[in-house]
Amino acid sequence: MKRPKLSTLNHQYKNVGDKLTPFEIYLKYSTEKDISIKQLNNILSQSSNSVKILDIGCGDGSYLLESIPKDSNFEITFLEPSIQLFNKLEKNIQGHENYNSINKTFEEFNLENKEVFDIVLASHLYHFSQSEYPIFLSQLISLLEDSGTLIWIERGIDEITDFKKRFKSKLLPDRYPKDWEPRNYKKALEILKEKSADTKLVLNRSVLKFPYKENLDEVMAIVEFYLNIDWTSIPIEVQNEILKYIEEKKGILKQEEGIIIYKKK
Ligand SMILES: C[S@@+](CC[C@H](N)C(=O)[O-])C[C@H]1O[C@@H](n2cnc3c(N)ncnc32)[C@H](O)[C@@H]1O
Repeated sequence: MKRPKLSTLNHQYKNVGDKLTPFEIYLKYSTEKDISIKQLNNILSQSSNSVKILDIGCGDGSYLLESIPKDSNFEITFLEPSIQLFNKLEKNIQGHENYNSINKTFEEFNLENKEVFDIVLASHLYHFSQSEYPIFLSQLISLLEDSGTLIWIERGIDEITDFKKRFKSKLLPDRYPKDWEPRNYKKALEILKEKSADTKLVLNRSVLKFPYKENLDEVMAIVEFYLNIDWTSIPIEVQNEILKYIEEKKGILKQEEGIIIYKKK
């Protein structure tokens, strides 16, 4: 069997020419972002009108921008290291006096930062390994005002988990052995609960509807997005197994996302 190839680091968020990134293709077929935006809007609506927020690894900023409650007067610092996403972010926040953007990694920002925030948002930051979570979460908490809130968002345990586990362990067993578990919010929840009793979990449920049959190219892009393995490097018999799996689910996979709300005492 030929060796399946891991996709180039972070390729999921990179455009090739004027094409959509695999992440953007995935977004077209999932209800996750819409449901997540409603939920974050709900959470932010419970805070005062003029809080100071830090959004770490904010991408193009659209997630938080679309979640902000109407008539609020938030002061927001958007932090994003990727130059491509940062350029999009700058356009998205043009003309907003209360918004400020920084083109740095969290590590660079944290070294020189002296500010504290009412809310720190850390959503889907998969570039940090789980072994770094104890230190990373402590650093995030140290950026909070005394009664500030950390909002941590991470994948849940769902049919995507099953899909990833099944095919990643099959394709790259050395890297993903049978007992390997795809990343989810549980580890962060465990660490945060030990730090404060005032830690709440909210679950968002959504669905991913593959454009199965109508657009096989996009089905492959979504599979690559989740497996992080180049489709063309997958042996044909496993490609067929993947397509059969999707067909048996009638093209629909249930998704779960966890929002952890941690209040500093
Ligand atoms: C999966 S995206 C999440 C985007 C956004 N937070 C959301 O939930 O829609 C991860 C983001 O983290 C950024 N990132 C990667 N390494 C980072 C680092 N060291 N510090 C801060 N952000 C980082 C990436 O450029 C990307 O925009």
